[in-house]
Amino acid sequence: MTEPTRTRSQAAEAAEDAGSNPSANATFGDVVAARFDRRDLLRGLLGVGAIAAVVTPRALAATEAAAAAEAAPAAAVPAETAPTRFPFAEVEAGSDTHHHVAAGHDAEILIRWGDPVLPGAPAFDPHHQSAAAQAKQFGYNNDFVGYFPMPGAADPAAHGLLVVNHEYTNEELMFPGLGRQDLKSVAFAGMTKTLVDIEMAAHGGSVLEIRRTDGQWAVVPDSKYARRITAETPMVLTGPAAGSARLVTAADPTGRSVHGMINNCAGGTTPWGTWLTCEENINYYFSGTLPADSGEAKNHARFNLPNSAYAWGRFHERFDIGKTPNEPNRFGWVVEIDPFDPTSVPKKRTAMGRFKHEGAAGIVAKTGQYVVYQGDDERFDYVYKFVTTGRVDSGDRDLLDSGTLHVARFDADGRGTWMPLVFGQGPLTPENGFQTQADVLIGARLAADRLGATKMDRPEDVEANPKTGKVYVMLTNNGKRKADQTDAVNPRADNRFGHIVELTPDDGDHAATGFSWEILVRCGDPAIAAVGATFSSATTKDGWFGMPDNCAVDGQGRLWVATDGNSASRTGRADGIWAMETEGQGRGTGKHFFRVPCGAEMCGPYFTPDDTTFFVAVQHPGEADEDDPKAAPATFEAPSTRWPDFDSAMPPRPAVVAITKRGGGRVGT
Ligand code: FEO
Ligand code: CA
Ligand code: CA
Ligand code: CA
Repeated sequence: MTEPTRTRSQAAEAAEDAGSNPSANATFGDVVAARFDRRDLLRGLLGVGAIAAVVTPRALAATEAAAAAEAAPAAAVPAETAPTRFPFAEVEAGSDTHHHVAAGHDAEILIRWGDPVLPGAPAFDPHHQSAAAQAKQFGYNNDFVGYFPMPGAADPAAHGLLVVNHEYTNEELMFPGLGRQDLKSVAFAGMTKTLVDIEMAAHGGSVLEIRRTDGQWAVVPDSKYARRITAETPMVLTGPAAGSARLVTAADPTGRSVHGMINNCAGGTTPWGTWLTCEENINYYFSGTLPADSGEAKNHARFNLPNSAYAWGRFHERFDIGKTPNEPNRFGWVVEIDPFDPTSVPKKRTAMGRFKHEGAAGIVAKTGQYVVYQGDDERFDYVYKFVTTGRVDSGDRDLLDSGTLHVARFDADGRGTWMPLVFGQGPLTPENGFQTQADVLIGARLAADRLGATKMDRPEDVEANPKTGKVYVMLTNNGKRKADQTDAVNPRADNRFGHIVELTPDDGDHAATGFSWEILVRCGDPAIAAVGATFSSATTKDGWFGMPDNCAVDGQGRLWVATDGNSASRTGRADGIWAMETEGQGRGTGKHFFRVPCGAEMCGPYFTPDDTTFFVAVQHPGEADEDDPKAAPATFEAPSTRWPDFDSAMPPRPAVVAITKRGGGRVGT
């Protein structure tokens, strides 16, 4: 951890720079940032002329040449002739302590950190929290949200199961008197086993039965479906890597039995009624020094592991790689859970590969196979898809144990290829360090490196649109990409605001290995020419956004984007939900629908099947504004907001919000 980061989120992003080019060449953005307060630049307070006045002509020429080499910006279509399928009244972009939703909609808190999940859960008392209480209560930092209609329900959009990931913990906002613990100067001095065990119980996921009565959603108390999954819940490893010697530990000589899941970010729901929940930044939880003879040095280094962002290794040997060098190989998977059976054992599906899984959104291909698109969220990492061997209609509940993982190569001509990660094929041979398919899957990044996959600007959610067959890839940002590292599909150096790429599978077949691609939008403020954003000109000052992260496609085939990293200091706006038109004349038009309170990021987005409810997750509310040097460090005692309770005795609480249209009907119409 480097010292100057102001929040845990920022520290996390700063640490995730593996694979970046170590060259010290200054980029255009660095030149500008060195001369101006970046907040002024990003708020548009400086015109392009002012930038040009102080930046060397050579730097400007390089930027212009780079811009010219990119796809042409969206055609300038006057607002009145660029209709979109999003007629709602736009929210004003900005940042304050509250959440805001488009007029004519209600956005109600459904469940908050600490609320009861299991029968007997004690009332939330943040001053006297315990691991036992937390294990029965809603966990921290809700991320992915999925909804399963209750079979046989009179109204499937008013009664169902909600599954929620609990990605990580912010100890400085959770625990009284503690403050940031991951700073070098602090070195987790205040962390105790009691606090670590609460953190472990606050990770994982929740299964909730929810019902809508008289228009109002509520969690059904003491439901037989209610479940908390934590960093201690017994799970099994299945598929080709299960039982590998590299998954064996002293506690598990079988290499098939694991305790818990961690850093579960986004996910997916399958047509057969299961929840896919994805382990992402698992490197944060491991510390210690790898024994010289472990054989895992290269593998762990490619995972930027250990990252030592948490104190868990001090109190639990399995998170100390000096003592348990194989434990990290047991994390970083897609976990499949049957939410309708609270006694079911979660399954880590090794066939789908091990990397920093952002999500796992799937679609049934023309062939009947299930295809799961997956982003590996780190700078310069890859986009993957998994294609099952069997068909969804086979009734096989272990479909995800057998199939082919592919990684994407994007060519400059707008074509692309899904390359299979199969032991023995191409360079994936013993000479290159792969003895079995287990080696290919455990070290999926190393295998993808060998195949020449395209290094992307942090792939987050990847989702198919069932109405059009197109696939959307959220590339959130990559400030480490240098000018000489740009390529057709990642065209911006110092890409602070990210972009969205649209894939079209050949023959409309998601199982096909060929595809074509184009950039849907380059994000950021279109009013600043140097940013190079390409929102349509119909996009208002509120309608543009930076840092796309999660996304959802609604029942009408409309794309909705959730962001992570906007703030008053960076973009003059909090994170939130933006509608993004992908079709017709309005293509490339963004429209602001919902915004989170300050310090938070936007996660979750998930619609009920009829689009009458839109579930969103507000993660880490109350953090400090990351780039504002005047912002006080956020702590339990002094958060930047006390959303959603606004009670001086209560810290801010991550929460799931249910958005509905007042008077009924589809959200966002
Ligand atoms: Fe957990 Fe990629 O964000
Ligand atoms: Ca999603
Ligand atoms: Ca996120
Ligand atoms: Ca993110």
